[in-house]
Amino acid sequence: MSVITTRQDGDVLVVTSNNPPVNALGQAVRAGLADAMAQAASDDSIKAVVITCEGRTFFAGADITEFGKPPVGPSLPDVIDTIEASKKPVIAAIHGTALGGGLEVALGCHYRIAIASAKLGLPEVKLGILPGAGGTQRLPRVVGVEAALPMIVKGDPIPAAAAERIGLVDKLVADDQLVESGVAFAKSVIGAASHPVSSARTDKIDSSLGDDFFDNFRKIEMRRLKGFEAPEACVQAVRAAIDLPFEEGVKKERELFGKLVSGTQSQALRHVFFAERAASKIDGIAADTPVLPINQVGILGAGTMGGGIAMNFLSAGIPVTILEREQDALDRGVSIIRKNYERSAARGKFTAEQVEQCMARLTPTLDMNDLADSDLVIEAIFENMDVKKDVFAKLDAIVKPGAILASNTSYLNVDEMAAVTKRADHVLGLHFFSPANVMRLLEIVRAAKTAPAVLKTAMALSKKIGKVAVVAGVCHGFIGNRMLSPRQQAANAMLMQGIKPWDIDDALTDFGMPMGPFQMSDLAGLDLGWNKEKSNSETIRDVLCERDRRGQKTGKGFYDYDENRRRTPSAEVEEIIAGFVAKSGETPQSYSAEEIRDRLLFPMVNEGAKILEEGMAQRASDIDTVWINGYGWPAYTGGPMFWADTIGLDVVVEGLKAYGHQVSPLLADKAAKGEKLNS
Ligand code: 3HC
Ligand code: NAI
Repeated sequence: MSVITTRQDGDVLVVTSNNPPVNALGQAVRAGLADAMAQAASDDSIKAVVITCEGRTFFAGADITEFGKPPVGPSLPDVIDTIEASKKPVIAAIHGTALGGGLEVALGCHYRIAIASAKLGLPEVKLGILPGAGGTQRLPRVVGVEAALPMIVKGDPIPAAAAERIGLVDKLVADDQLVESGVAFAKSVIGAASHPVSSARTDKIDSSLGDDFFDNFRKIEMRRLKGFEAPEACVQAVRAAIDLPFEEGVKKERELFGKLVSGTQSQALRHVFFAERAASKIDGIAADTPVLPINQVGILGAGTMGGGIAMNFLSAGIPVTILEREQDALDRGVSIIRKNYERSAARGKFTAEQVEQCMARLTPTLDMNDLADSDLVIEAIFENMDVKKDVFAKLDAIVKPGAILASNTSYLNVDEMAAVTKRADHVLGLHFFSPANVMRLLEIVRAAKTAPAVLKTAMALSKKIGKVAVVAGVCHGFIGNRMLSPRQQAANAMLMQGIKPWDIDDALTDFGMPMGPFQMSDLAGLDLGWNKEKSNSETIRDVLCERDRRGQKTGKGFYDYDENRRRTPSAEVEEIIAGFVAKSGETPQSYSAEEIRDRLLFPMVNEGAKILEEGMAQRASDIDTVWINGYGWPAYTGGPMFWADTIGLDVVVEGLKAYGHQVSPLLADKAAKGEKLNS
């Protein structure tokens, strides 16, 4: 069956797209739309057109899989121009998400109606591009520059009601009456003297907005978009909607689009989009594997992680019982959860009523028996195997049969924990990242005996609580923390070669990481695991801690910190390190910023390849997903494995050899064959 079908309802032609899953505007859809418009133009009995979609959504955008391939007509801009040029009014009837090219189609229509749950947006910027089918020129003309600019530069969709308020939607209609309402709307405008043509509108364009307005927007709204190329191109395109006539503006848009779409950032961000979706697919699990119901969650430990983990479930409407050993710790944990909710409410993310609803779902307890009815229990207690094993054995005896037991361990062996229970098939790791209520990443650690249904349940649950989940195998530190370790070793080795900590950190922040290894140490506290009594000035860390340079909390560590926690290089630290270097007998080295970066990142890529080799990650793109969502790796480089692919695996292998590393056979093999890690 054709993806576009038409039927006549009186004098209205109803054009319906059926291209699951998201009605992406691939070639067949574009051709079908063009044919439908030709049919409408040539048939005198047709007086108006309604464009709508079947399935879960209105057109969710251009078909991203077509990017980078030779274009096959008709092009989306041409189809939209045809719709807009129609003498007969065209109405977009929107449900689900009208995104990107989908919203551009709607903007080409003369009228837009939507159901209340619909969302409308131009998210192209998140794929490293800008709307390339007239969206940057039509949206400002329809809703004004001030409303259009953030939608295009930030890419977040807006609800239908907000769209109606700014004039993007003409009418909100009942959920179950979308097409009927579209037809009725069409009939009501047949015979009108004229119909609004988005590209010809000038009423919303405020031509007084100039440099000040755009510079101010850049300063306030684009601070967090540092390093990304597309947002600035979006600003320039919107600016063209003020400065240039429509046809010229579209030319400018297309020129900017062309540059971005063929660039590395856009390729990387498209990779990230598909990587996140691939990550949710678990190898070796039959399609009919059931998802177990999770209606009640138990959490052990109301510390840093336990509290944050609890919030995920509370916010998703799932009741949580949280266990601590002592009343004080329990009270402290609960009050931090409340404070976090109240802070979010102050920022407008929750209403006061929602905060109370979330808190009402939380049951604090000191009695493990209260976890008996949980469908899932997650332990977030101290990182100590004996303590964890003890708790798993106790939980196994108390919690109902069939319930899942999970550990939030950062490094420890989940198989060992499973072994002390009689339900090893219902044990796995659920490794959240700090702050657990904010960070999107969840590593699902598949233990030797974890049942497929348990894995599938964890994956389904991750979606429900808004996480991006990746399946990892049991190994020290799983995917993310395991790769952190060679980076730290490389950083420490460079320190001993006389490279300054700030030069090492800067190499990573310039690359786009939120912080470098020594900033991270200062943030975590240098005294984590340091023992004052046993300290004998043997390591740089010993000396720093002995001098009370224990990190941000003491105002100094590798850096000196001011009252706003801004870091400055410390002469004292430089002297301490120089002393160690002199004692070590190493010849001090000097590396370019690029070499420092490569010395830090190539070993991570190597470790990633070993993780793949050992089957601890299902695919290279999963590793990219972990580092982007858990550690702030700059998404515009696509993640460590994609980045290695873009600079060339042969370059990485040569670098690793030159820096004295043993190269992963998988990496060496792929480099030799000219292959990529992400194939
Ligand atoms: N092109 C191709 N495939 C797409 C797609 C698109 N635009 N959008 C989604 N898909 C695919 C996904 O890869 C996934 O495939 P899979 O099942 O094989 O993994 C499937 O559709 C379902 O997607 P999700 O799992 O993301 O489904 P959700 O229901 O969670 O979300 C959605 C639906 C909100 C529409 C989300 O898919 C989404 O945000 N899509 C991208 C929207 C977008 O970026 N549009 C702009 C495209 S660029 C453009 O339009 C350029 C134009 O200006 C010229
Ligand atoms: P934390 O010290 O802040 O909290 C642990 C809590 O567990 C404490 O409040 C303690 O009183 C409680 N506790 C200890 N034994 C208990 C028991 N038998 N029953 C009930 N409560 C008990 O520690 P944090 O940072 O929350 O770490 C917890 C776990 O999460 C560790 O395994 C850690 O490796 C892991 N993790 C930590 C991350 C972090 O950034 N802090 C990130 C990801 C995982």
